[in-house]
This record gives sequence, structure tokens and C-alpha cells, in this order.
Amino acid sequence: MGRKGIILAGGTGSRLFPMTRVTSKQLLMVYDKPMIYYPLSTFMLGGIREILIITTSNHLELFKTLLGDGSNYGIELQYQIQPQPEGLAQAFLLGEKFIQESPAALILGDNLFHGNDFVTQLLEANQTIKPTIFAYPVSDPERYGVVEFSNEGKVLSIEEKPKNPKSRYAITGLYFYDSSVVDKAKSLKPSDRGELEITDLNKAYLAEESLTVKLMGRGMAWLDTGTFDSLNDASSYIRTVQNRQGFKIGCIEEVAWRKGWIDDKKLLEHAHLSIKSGYGNYLINLLEDKKEQVF
Ligand code: TTP
Repeated sequence: MGRKGIILAGGTGSRLFPMTRVTSKQLLMVYDKPMIYYPLSTFMLGGIREILIITTSNHLELFKTLLGDGSNYGIELQYQIQPQPEGLAQAFLLGEKFIQESPAALILGDNLFHGNDFVTQLLEANQTIKPTIFAYPVSDPERYGVVEFSNEGKVLSIEEKPKNPKSRYAITGLYFYDSSVVDKAKSLKPSDRGELEITDLNKAYLAEESLTVKLMGRGMAWLDTGTFDSLNDASSYIRTVQNRQGFKIGCIEEVAWRKGWIDDKKLLEHAHLSIKSGYGNYLINLLEDKKEQVF
């Protein structure tokens, strides 16, 4: 059974108030597209086509207006409300009906990944049934779930926001699990801050020695976009790389088309919707440069 993906796009976004008082953080702009395009394109690049978007009741209609049932992108989108932001691992309880017996993946709606070999890593993680999470070196590991490795690279421990981190490797907001994830999430107890912690879920997999932790090297960019500065940094990063290369990052219309999930005609339809911004011209140029299939 194919792996199903969940994008967690709820939360309060309080670190972005007043910007997020009336809209979702995941709909704010990251340079030239809504933030959710980036995690959505990550799943699409990994070959995940059945996706559940979890959001708040206030913002549900906005996401539906933007992305619909996914058919315009050759994917299947469903939606689910998270009444209260009660933790990342709650995604698997809310998504139980959607997941059924499939393996499942989760991505945080405000996480942005880009870099060399990322697509290969994604495809590998999706192809194996075994759970895979990713660790990335950061300068402030105490803000994240942190992995401790032995000299042989074996995972020794995972700690949530440790005061004295045992390494600089933070666990990123992208998780591939097997079909036991819903049962494991059901057995979790809320933490002191009242949330179902993804770190506790990862620890449950670690305890049964089934967890693969892959390193993302320094050639990768992993950005989150939860504060004014990090959001602005992410926009600048996207703008810089896109303008230099002439390739867009996180362009779901392009990914769908390159995957063969939508045809030239559908790509043109997307192009005409955004023609005045230049985004549409980019899509039209893809058709004209068809021979140069670089990914
Ligand atoms: P956070 O950045 O931890 O929380 P937040 O988005 O509510 O922002 P703030 O801290 O400024 O109030 O969340 C990370 C991502 O996960 C983000 O995309 C929102 C999402 N999220 C949920 O959808 N539900 C939840 O219960 C939590 C904790 C987060």
C-alpha cells in the first residue's frame, strides 16, 4: 500500500502575530508562493500523492480554495480540522481514518527543505516500509529534538529540547513511519506542556530498534519559517537561488507536470491564472524548454 502523507498546517502562529491573527501561517508568502507549496512539493517529489492537510476550523476554507481536491495537481487532497494545537503526534490520531492500514509520513507546514540529493533521500525514505527521520546540524540544538549518535553512527538517544544537547543534530519536521504509527500515537501520554510529542513517538520506534535516522548534510537547507526573521530569511533564500538558477523551488505545478501527473494543457491553465505575476510565464517557459528536463 502506498504511503499517505499528512501536512500539519494548524497551530496558532503566535510568534507571527499580528500577521497570523486572521490567516494561517502556512498561507503566508515565502517569496513568490504560499508557504504550504513547499511541504506539499516535498511530498510530491517523494512520490506521495494521497495527502491530508490538517488545519484549524478558521482556515480550512482558505486551503480548500487554494488547493481544492488536488486534482489540478494530479494528487488527492483531503482536509481535517485540528480543534486545538495539541501536539505534532496528534496528527496520527486525527488522520486515523485517512491512513487506514498504510504507512504514513508527516511534514510540518512551516518547514522548508531544499538541496542536493534531497529528492533521492525522499524517494528512498518513501520506498522502504521502515520508519525514517532526518537529522540536520544546527547551531541552536536546544530548540529541537536532538539525536545522540555512537561513534559507529548508531542512534543512542533522542531528547526533546535538552538543556545540554548531546549533539548538534536536530530532528527535522519530516517523518516517514510504518503502518503501526496510529497505534503508537494512541499509546502516547501528553507531555508536561500538554502536547502529544513527536519525540515520544520517535522514542517508541527507537525502543523497538526500527528507526532509521538519516543525516542531511551541510549542502542541504532546512529552514523553518515561524518567526519574522526566519520567514524573511526563507524568502530571501528562495529568491536568491531561484533568480540565480532560473528554476523555481517548491513549484507544485511544475512538480506535477514533470512527474507526468498533469498534462501540458493543465500546466497552461495554471500558467494563465498567474500570468501577470510572472509565475505563469515560468510555467509557459517550461513547456518551451521541454527538452531540458533537469530536476
Ligand atoms: P509551531 O511553530 O511549534 O507552533 P505554531 O505554528 O502554532 O506557532 P507559534 O509557536 O508561533 O504559536 O508548529 C510547527 C508546525 O506545526 C506549524 O506548521 C504548525 C503545526 N502545528 C499544528 O498544526 N498543530 C499542532 O498541534 C502544533 C503544535 C503545530
